Amino acid sequence: MTQRERWSSKTIFIFAAVGSAVGLGNVWRFPYLAGKYGGGAFLIPYIIMLFVMGVPLLIMEFAIGQKMQLGAVGAFKKIKRKLAGIGIASVLCGFVVVSYYAVVMAWSLLYMFFSFRLSWGADTKSFFFNQVLHLSSGAGNPGYIAIPIIFALVAVWLMVYFSIWKGVKSVGKVVMITMPLPIILLLILLIRGITLPGAGEGIIFYLKPDFSALLDLAVWRAAASQIFFTLSLAFGIMIAYASYQHEASDISKSAIITALLNSAISIVAGLAVFSTLGYMAVKSGIPIKELAASSGPSLAFIVFPKALSLMPLAPLFAVLFFIMLITLAIDSAFSLVEAASTVLCDNYPHLRKEDISFYVCAAGFTCGIIFTSFAGLYYLDITDHFITNYGLVAAGLLEIWAVVDFYGAEKLRGYINEVSDIKIGKYWSIAISYIIPALLLVLLTTGIVSDIKKPYGNYPQGAIFCFGWLVLILVFTASFLFSRFASKTNDGKINR
Ligand code: TRP
Repeated sequence: MTQRERWSSKTIFIFAAVGSAVGLGNVWRFPYLAGKYGGGAFLIPYIIMLFVMGVPLLIMEFAIGQKMQLGAVGAFKKIKRKLAGIGIASVLCGFVVVSYYAVVMAWSLLYMFFSFRLSWGADTKSFFFNQVLHLSSGAGNPGYIAIPIIFALVAVWLMVYFSIWKGVKSVGKVVMITMPLPIILLLILLIRGITLPGAGEGIIFYLKPDFSALLDLAVWRAAASQIFFTLSLAFGIMIAYASYQHEASDISKSAIITALLNSAISIVAGLAVFSTLGYMAVKSGIPIKELAASSGPSLAFIVFPKALSLMPLAPLFAVLFFIMLITLAIDSAFSLVEAASTVLCDNYPHLRKEDISFYVCAAGFTCGIIFTSFAGLYYLDITDHFITNYGLVAAGLLEIWAVVDFYGAEKLRGYINEVSDIKIGKYWSIAISYIIPALLLVLLTTGIVSDIKKPYGNYPQGAIFCFGWLVLILVFTASFLFSRFASKTNDGKINR
């Protein structure tokens, strides 16, 4: 039996976890949700979800990975054979996310090159939709593949691959740069943003609470799925990362640091984004509400390029902005590859990790090709909605079920407190046994009902089916079949 790889220090582990958590989700998903769901009032469900659900679940994932010393599939299999499929569901959800996430990184890479000459010109919307994406008339019309995006996608996957090809040791070195660098860039953009005229109005819009938003269940759903997405929960990532810690390493403090740093960065990113939007509103006369209403990709690739070109030293800040996006995203992307390779390595220890990671990257690239088609943006939007709102939440529920009903919440809490400096109270067990599953079940069912009543985003039914429901069906069927298969085989590794 070969020795398991190890992080070179506890700090590196936290860097890697924060690097995975902090990503595109923090700079455009969070500000966009805040703008859409009641400004400052969104912070309330967000923070409640962070403490009620995010921190306890992050502690749980760290604990499972570290206790079992295996990636998601092996860890759940060790709890009980038939639970192995839960790990598959998590890793597959992450795999779907990374396949389109890398496409967004590819756009960012192209935009980094466009930044030098502000190639998007005055009409940034038409530039993004027509010249970059070649966006087709609708989801039913995929058109062809956008060639520059494919090339950029290859470059992105090569960067991802070379960040992790030597396993945890190379991840450790890379995150020393990819974790702090984007944060420094964000701070530069924040200072730039808040010193612009009009910044105040933008920030007021961002922080002024609209409490009526709290009565809308969709706001709570958005807050919950954002917490899953941003903390990289239920992707098998945090389980894999924690499995490279020594069994006696601290858990609760690392989880709290990771969660707090991640949310602090989201809130700061919101300040940077909204101050810049405030400036743009003043300059262009377009009300800030309209600017903020543009969805994720539009914010980064339509509104922001426009705002950036209005500033003095525009090319410089534009290049910094897109380097920030790429470096923010890369450690989230490779964390998923690492989660998938960990699972495969646990299962096939005779294969070289370098090769496994290569195949995972190649598969991620291949699945991402569909999102580079002329209808790619529509597909990306649908898949993102379904995977983040339902896939992650369902995978999270299954993870909780495995821990609570088969391992024992109190038993896991005992282990966590044995190794951690910060002791967690009985509240944690109550939260993961009752409060979180009840919350998640309500959000999941009400969400599915509302999606069945009204198709998401007015897309054609066929597209919603293929890129939404079918993806979910495939992920969970694979997970179920894997569990059936795992409970039949007997390789003598049972631990119960
Ligand atoms: N946490 C990341 C963010 O906020 C998103 C993310 C989570 C992710 N898991 C992932 C991205 C897996 C790619 C692959 O942006």
